[in-house]
Amino acid sequence: MSEWVLEARRLCKSYREGNATLTVLRDITFEVAAGERIAIVGASGSGKSTLLHLLGGLDQPDRGEVSIRGRDVARMPERERSKLRNETLGFVYQLHHLLQEFTALENVALPLLLRRRVPRDRVRQLARERLREVGLEARSAHRPSELSGGERQRVAIARALVTNPALLLADEPTGNLDPHTGEGIYELLLDLNARHGTAVIVVTHEHALAAQMHRRYRLDEGVLVPL
Ligand SMILES: Nc1ncnc2c1ncn2[C@@H]1O[C@H](COP(=O)(O)OP(=O)(O)OP(=O)(O)O)[C@@H](O)[C@H]1O
Ligand SMILES: [Mg+2]
Repeated sequence: MSEWVLEARRLCKSYREGNATLTVLRDITFEVAAGERIAIVGASGSGKSTLLHLLGGLDQPDRGEVSIRGRDVARMPERERSKLRNETLGFVYQLHHLLQEFTALENVALPLLLRRRVPRDRVRQLARERLREVGLEARSAHRPSELSGGERQRVAIARALVTNPALLLADEPTGNLDPHTGEGIYELLLDLNARHGTAVIVVTHEHALAAQMHRRYRLDEGVLVPL
């Protein structure tokens, strides 16, 4: 098995706009080792979310490859690819994307329910434990509209972590939060990294959080520049 949790090879991504082509990512190559902490910064529109989506398999590159645990995801049958992603990756979206009609607990439980094999009682127990870890057990019956911005972000993190992923991809998890709540979120990320060895790629503008990472990059003109 590969020593890398995730490898990206020569990723390219452009968007066509009428006759013009907007090139967002040019030939991005990098690897993530188990337990590693990586920060990505960059101006608005520089392609940070696009990159994270490609790494997480939420979107396809025009060229290049993404391998999870040494396996090229593009070369697998869809079912196997979904399974490998579900088992390996957790994703915190820039806009938390919680399902409005479900409670916090149900939102957190969703990735486990997708596995089908996990018994319902166990799913509830694991989801409850994750909500407790993010300090929200008392909010488990609340729907997203009944939670504060920071609470929603914490539910989204609990959901991304409920499967014990080897790698967490977090897209500005402290964006739009007050500094105190933001600090709580990144202490949580660092704690999970320390306790479970979860590798983290985080898009962030928080210097204090970026400073705690093993590696830092700036996405600039479609290229990852080491900082
Ligand atoms: N589906 C799409 N179709 C066309 N253009 C897109 C699409 N998605 C993103 N873009 C463009 O690609 C560029 C990169 O977008 P992206 O969301 O990756 O930026 P970002 O670095 O995450 O910005 P922010 O810090 O504001 O979240 C932007 O200029 C955006 O307008
Ligand atoms: Mg973004």
